[in-house]
Amino acid sequence: MKVVRLIEKKKIQKAASLLLNSKEAIVLTGAGVSTESGIPDFRGEGGIWEKYKPEIYGNISAFLKNPAKFWEMAQKIAPNLFKAKPNPGHYALAELEKLGIIKAVITQNIDELHQKAGSIIVYEIHGSVNRFNCVACNASYTKEQILRKLKKEKKGGPSCEYCAAPLKPSAVLFGEPLPRFEKFQSQALAQKADVMLIAGSSLSVAPACYLPLYTLRENGKLIIVNDQPTDLDDKAEVVIHHKTGAVLPLIVEEIKRLQILQKA
Ligand code: APR
Repeated sequence: MKVVRLIEKKKIQKAASLLLNSKEAIVLTGAGVSTESGIPDFRGEGGIWEKYKPEIYGNISAFLKNPAKFWEMAQKIAPNLFKAKPNPGHYALAELEKLGIIKAVITQNIDELHQKAGSIIVYEIHGSVNRFNCVACNASYTKEQILRKLKKEKKGGPSCEYCAAPLKPSAVLFGEPLPRFEKFQSQALAQKADVMLIAGSSLSVAPACYLPLYTLRENGKLIIVNDQPTDLDDKAEVVIHHKTGAVLPLIVEEIKRLQILQKA
């Protein structure tokens, strides 16, 4: 915390002031906000796509050809996903909502850690790992039902009780459309946003990575908190290359300090 405070103090102050004086601020998060909860991201160091090729494990047409491959990966990463707890970055974003500073969190994450940290208005544009559907008849299954089926149906991954087609988590795979409401709602919010705080995303996957462009087109400002550079760094008002779990709480702390000064 001390290190971040020293190096980025001015940037944290600027980010806090932009957010405090905003009218329609929103947040866009990626897998980087959950790595400090023990969930690997996709393209950072040791990311999931380093171990599992996305064209084989993360793509809908590959899934339909061979669901077993996907379930092989899912059973390895799911325990981490299910037992993960929110980290200070998630709690800081939940507090920004409580303080009335942000209108919503748009997340590419499927881990539900924003909700577990207390965020209410969360749009999961890549779905959620806690809901499962049949790819043919769309029957829905709970996590508990799937875990029971995985124990019973060892080969090939769980299949639908009704039509025997493969089941998959309601997480969006490459080649699948985004959930309609979340897609259009997040575009509308991004268009309306005078400030977008982007936390823990490489901004490399469409259409999520277009959302900041909607904000910029309406002269909105970007604040990027990411431990690696992103393609939009040069378009952002503030760029902080540090851990979200350290930086986001400092931004909240600074907002509270400024609020006290405003009241004095
Ligand atoms: N603090 C700040 N940044 C972090 C942290 C952290 N604690 N941990 C990782 N990062 C950074 C990584 O350096 C990387 O730049 O977060 C970024 C995460 O980028 P990705 O792994 O590409 O994740 P994301 O942007 O969410 O990917 C988008 O791609 O594979 C699909 O559907 C998947 O939703 C995912 C989408």
